[in-house]
This record gives sequence, C-alpha cells and structure tokens, in this order.
Amino acid sequence: MRCVPECAIEVHGLRKSYGEFEAVRGIDFEVRRGEVFGLLGPNGAGKTTTVEILEGYRARSEGTVSVLGFDPGGRSRALRARVGIVLQSTGLYRHIRVREAVAHFGAMYPHPRDVDEVVELTGLAGKEDALARTLSGGQLRRLDLALALVGDPELIFLDEPTTGFDPAARRNAWDTIRSLKQLGKTVLLTTHYLDEAQALADRVAIIKDGRILIEGAPQELGADGGPARYRVAYRNGDGSVNERQTDDPTTLLHELTGAALARGERLEGLSVTRPTLEDVYLELTSKEPAGG
Ligand SMILES: Nc1ncnc2c1ncn2[C@@H]1O[C@H](COP(=O)(O)OP(=O)(O)OP(=O)(O)O)[C@@H](O)[C@H]1O
Ligand SMILES: [Mg+2]
Repeated sequence: MRCVPECAIEVHGLRKSYGEFEAVRGIDFEVRRGEVFGLLGPNGAGKTTTVEILEGYRARSEGTVSVLGFDPGGRSRALRARVGIVLQSTGLYRHIRVREAVAHFGAMYPHPRDVDEVVELTGLAGKEDALARTLSGGQLRRLDLALALVGDPELIFLDEPTTGFDPAARRNAWDTIRSLKQLGKTVLLTTHYLDEAQALADRVAIIKDGRILIEGAPQELGADGGPARYRVAYRNGDGSVNERQTDDPTTLLHELTGAALARGERLEGLSVTRPTLEDVYLELTSKEPAGG
C-alpha cells in the first residue's frame, strides 16, 4: 500500500456498466488520509458514477474499493457515521426549515457539530427559519454542504459542491474546505472549476471516457504525463515572440539574458510561466481517444 499509515480510499480495477454502456473502464487511484483529492473531467466522464460507488449509492460491476477500510457496497452504519456527502443532485425534502434540516442530519451521527456553528460556517446565518423551498439555488447548495459537515465526518465527498455559488460564496466554501483539511479530514472533490481544483487539491486525477488520463499534484502536472515544463518567452527585435520550454529556467535565463546583455540588448516582455491546470486539462481532454 502506498499510503502511510493507511489510505482513506483505495480503488483498483473499478468498472461500471449501465446495460451495454461502460461508464467506468478500469480505474485505479488512492486517496491518502488528510488529503484533498480532486476528480476532474468532462461531462459524462464517469466522476459521479465513481464517487457514488464509493459512497455506497451505486453498485460496481468489477474491481475492488475500500473506503476507510470498508467495502462501501455493504452500506454499513459504522462507515456512514464517518462519512459526509454532497451529492451532485440532491432530493432534499423542500418543506423543512434550514435549522431543522441541519439538526435532523446531525442527529444521525454520533458526534455532530453545533448546528448554529455549521449554519454560520456555510453562510446560512439569517436563513435558519427559512423553508428549503424558498432558498435560492446557491443557498440550497450551501445547505447541502451544511448537511455534509454537521456530522463532523472524517471523510467528505463533494460532487461539484460550489456549482451555483457566487464568487464570494465560492471563496468561503474554499476556506471551509481548507479548514476541513486543517482538521485532518479527507476530502474527495469533483469540480469543473479548475481554479478550485488548483486552489484546494493536493492531487488531482483527470478522467475521460471512464479512464484516468493523468494523476498528480495540480501545480506539477504536464500534459505529457511528466512534470509541467517552464515556458520562457520574450519578444524578438521584430516584435515576434520567442518561446522556449525548459525544466531548468535558472540556467536558460542566465544564458539568454547573458547573451542579450553581451549584445547590448534587453529581452523585451521576458516572462517565465508554467502551464496552468486549465491548460493541461484542455490539452489532454480535447484529444480524441486513442482507440478502444
Ligand atoms: N443511471 C444511469 N443509467 C445509465 N447511464 C448512466 C447512468 N448514470 C450515468 N450514466 C452514464 O454514465 C456516464 C458517466 O456519467 P457520470 O454521471 O458518472 O458523469 P460525470 O463525470 O459525473 O459528468 P458531469 O460532469 O456531467 O457530472 C454518462 O455517459 C452517463 O450518461
Ligand atoms: Mg457528475
């Protein structure tokens, strides 16, 4: 096992078919305890299918899965008491008030958090007595997050938790997720916001057509599977852009700037950048599958 001392989640050879259609085609990954792990990929890639298998909501077709040492297919109460879940689409009963809903969910866990603290944390203060059906889309999503956190779970599944959030609410949710990490919780997050993944995830896996294309720390991923290379760019005298790629920008800059200074020139518009997670994601996911 690669996790020390033990993995929160282990997935090996996972497959899931819906009738003839194979949505997940043999994936492997591990999530370490205390880690924020991001599952990224286009619509229909198989993210929710994978996450809901780990949550015990869907049955797998093949492979082995372990969540906090349990097979989630067994839907054990002991496991459920340690896990919090934000589903991609929730069927929350609409005629319940915010505080009632949070308290009700908390009561299902052995050591729930304080209801008002969770309401405050998720930005629902002032809406405690509002009926769920009267909340805005973003407020309803905050309630979903509150319900996932109130049980003080050690593992939290967040399937596109910030969809519909305004920019400030998204930042607040990021702070909440960071504070979960500081408390030593493990988070499995799916998101289409690559800045969110870059900001929060220790590691990400990019999945497409039911297969993992690449996995690693977001700031270190390169589209070719290796680490992202630095891009050094500057303008030539005629205004055209000269771009070089390197693993060692210090040496390359020294050479380029040394030669320019020796010629009595400046390198106009000199910049050193690394591809963002979004650059890598778009390059990888826009490619046609290589057969199969
Ligand atoms: N219950 C189901 N029955 C049949 N097909 C399904 C079912 N659930 C999902 N699928 C199919 O499996 C594939 C993967 O769906 P999934 O919901 O896992 O994707 P996703 O990566 O979560 O996408 P999104 O980013 O849109 O949420 C899709 O092609 C979808 O149509
Ligand atoms: Mg999904």
